[in-house]
Amino acid sequence: MSAALHRPEPVLRHRAQPVDETTPPAQAAAWLRDGRSLLVADRFGTGLGILAALRLLLDDPGEDGGYVKKRAFREAFAAASQRLLVPVVGRKVALPDAPRPGFLAELYPDHADFALPVEDARVLSSAWDWYDKGVHFPVLGYRVHPFYGAYIPARMEHLELFGTWLAKYQGARRRAIDVGTGSGVLALQMAKAGFQHVLATDINPNAIESVARQLRRLPQPPPIELQHADLLGADRGPIDLIVSNPPWMKGEVGRTLDLAMYFQDGFFERFYAQCLQRLAPGGRVVFVFSNIIELSQPDVPHPITTELERGRFRLVEKMTRRVKPLRRRTREKVEIWELAAV
Ligand SMILES: C[S@@+](CC[C@H](N)C(=O)[O-])C[C@H]1O[C@@H](n2cnc3c(N)ncnc32)[C@H](O)[C@@H]1O
Repeated sequence: MSAALHRPEPVLRHRAQPVDETTPPAQAAAWLRDGRSLLVADRFGTGLGILAALRLLLDDPGEDGGYVKKRAFREAFAAASQRLLVPVVGRKVALPDAPRPGFLAELYPDHADFALPVEDARVLSSAWDWYDKGVHFPVLGYRVHPFYGAYIPARMEHLELFGTWLAKYQGARRRAIDVGTGSGVLALQMAKAGFQHVLATDINPNAIESVARQLRRLPQPPPIELQHADLLGADRGPIDLIVSNPPWMKGEVGRTLDLAMYFQDGFFERFYAQCLQRLAPGGRVVFVFSNIIELSQPDVPHPITTELERGRFRLVEKMTRRVKPLRRRTREKVEIWELAAV
């Protein structure tokens, strides 16, 4: 499986109406909501001001707004904000206060001049900052530099809990898989723990690109093989340890990064079927998970306990840990589920 990297779609032709600082932001926001396309003509800051007005107009519920309201807002904002464009000339946003070109130079070898939604240009620019600076992972002891579009963990507790579990692990260390590797941290943790071969898969090509670049940065590249693939990929086993930090909630997938957050019907069924075929005798399946699904989607059958009730796996150990609230108080806990085939 090989695929082009995900990138914001370049807008090659448009008939957007120019707007600038003389246009009242609330007026521009209403036009966007009503379906009109606009092109920012003077400064990037004008575009950001219009996006702020659009958030107000669409009644951004903020972090405390609850899952359903937040998702509805996100969808409405995504649709309307796509109609607010900035010009790109020579792979740079052609406005005086525009952010650094960053990923624009890499992701658009096929086009130099086009337009992009302001929101996409903003996301590309902030992704570049993460990539450039890197994110320090205490569990690894170094910085990881996530490529645009690869999942970056928002918190560290689940990685620390996995590290605690891994430090106690007594099983074989020949072959492991990190299913849905994102920016690669679990695969890198397993390689650091002495696994002879770690396969890291992801359905998102940008995640595979991200880890490939990370491996090239390391002075001694760890034994990590990458596959842009669904679930366990082409590896036929036997595999000593199958690890995954899967999506934690059920939901529709729109953007590529939704694949990191939301699973759909059949995801876990296929996952378990592949594990049963490929797990080495005495092997383990380990999920890095959270109780967020019980808190916010109590009607969705729990993807791990439902499987345990089928009797094909037994629970060897479950570890839980409270998380520090990112913004407000939370009852969220992160979890490690260690399963063995029966
Ligand atoms: C919550 S993120 C975890 C990323 C990383 N392992 C970590 O712990 O930070 C889930 C990852 O699974 C990937 N994913 C979702 N569906 C997948 C599938 N069917 N096959 C492989 N990877 C998948 C997503 O693209 C995303 O990178």
